[in-house]
Amino acid sequence: MQLVAAFVSLVVSATAASAALIASAPLTECLHETVVSSGFIGKDHNVKFETSHCGAAPHFAADGKLTGLDKRAAPSIVCDAPCNTFCFNGAGGGPNEDDCKVVSDALLFESQSTAGPLFNITAAGTPTDKITMQFGSCLTYFLNQSPGNLTYCENDWSTLVTWLAGDCNAAHGAHGGLCVAQDQRWYIQVQNTSG
Ligand SMILES: *[C@@H]1O[C@H](CO)[C@@H](O)[C@H](O)[C@H]1NC(C)=O
Ligand SMILES: *[C@@H]1O[C@H](CO)[C@@H](O)[C@H](O)[C@H]1NC(C)=O
Repeated sequence: MQLVAAFVSLVVSATAASAALIASAPLTECLHETVVSSGFIGKDHNVKFETSHCGAAPHFAADGKLTGLDKRAAPSIVCDAPCNTFCFNGAGGGPNEDDCKVVSDALLFESQSTAGPLFNITAAGTPTDKITMQFGSCLTYFLNQSPGNLTYCENDWSTLVTWLAGDCNAAHGAHGGLCVAQDQRWYIQVQNTSG
C-alpha cells in the first residue's frame, strides 16, 4: 500500500485542528481524475484510499472565491494549521454522519499505528496531489494546492471529517463542506460519495 508507505514516522504533538465556520459555497468537483494508487485503511481495512490528480483541479481560496495557485514556499508540515470552513448549500444528499465516523475512526487508527501520525501529499500539479478516503456515503479528500510537498496529521484530518460532517449536515441546510487553510495551501473536503 503506497499511501501507508508514504506515512512518515516522525512523532509530533499535534493538537486538534482549528476550524472556523465562515460561509457557504458550491460543491467543488474534481474533474478528469487520474488515480495512481489505492487500498484500504483502518482497523477493519474498510476505508478506501486513493492517491490521484484532478485534470481540472478545484482550487479554493481562503475567502471562498475560486483561485489560482498560491506561489509561496513555506514550511511543509501543516498539522494544526487553521482553516476556514465552507458548507455546501442545500440540505439533503450529504454524507451519512455514521459513515463519516468510520472514516474518522480509520484515520485515528492509522495515526496510532506503527506507520505514524503523518502523511505526505505531493505538490499541486503532480500525480498524487490529492488523497481521498471513502466509506459508504462518506467521501473526504485532502487536496494540495501549493507548489510544494506538504505533510499533514491524520488525527487532524480525522477531527475535520467529524467537524465537517456535523456542522455541514442537513440540519444546517448543507450537504457537506470543506475547510481551506488560511494560507490557502490545502483544503479538506467532506461530501457524499456520489457527488
Ligand atoms: C515525507 O516528507 C518528509 C518531510 O519532507 C520527508 O522527510 C519524508 O522522507 C517523506 N516521506 C516519503 C515517504 O516521501
Ligand atoms: C516531493 O515529494 C516527492 C515524492 O516523495 C519527491 O519525489 C520530491 O523530490 C519532493 N519534492 C521536494 C521539493 O521535496
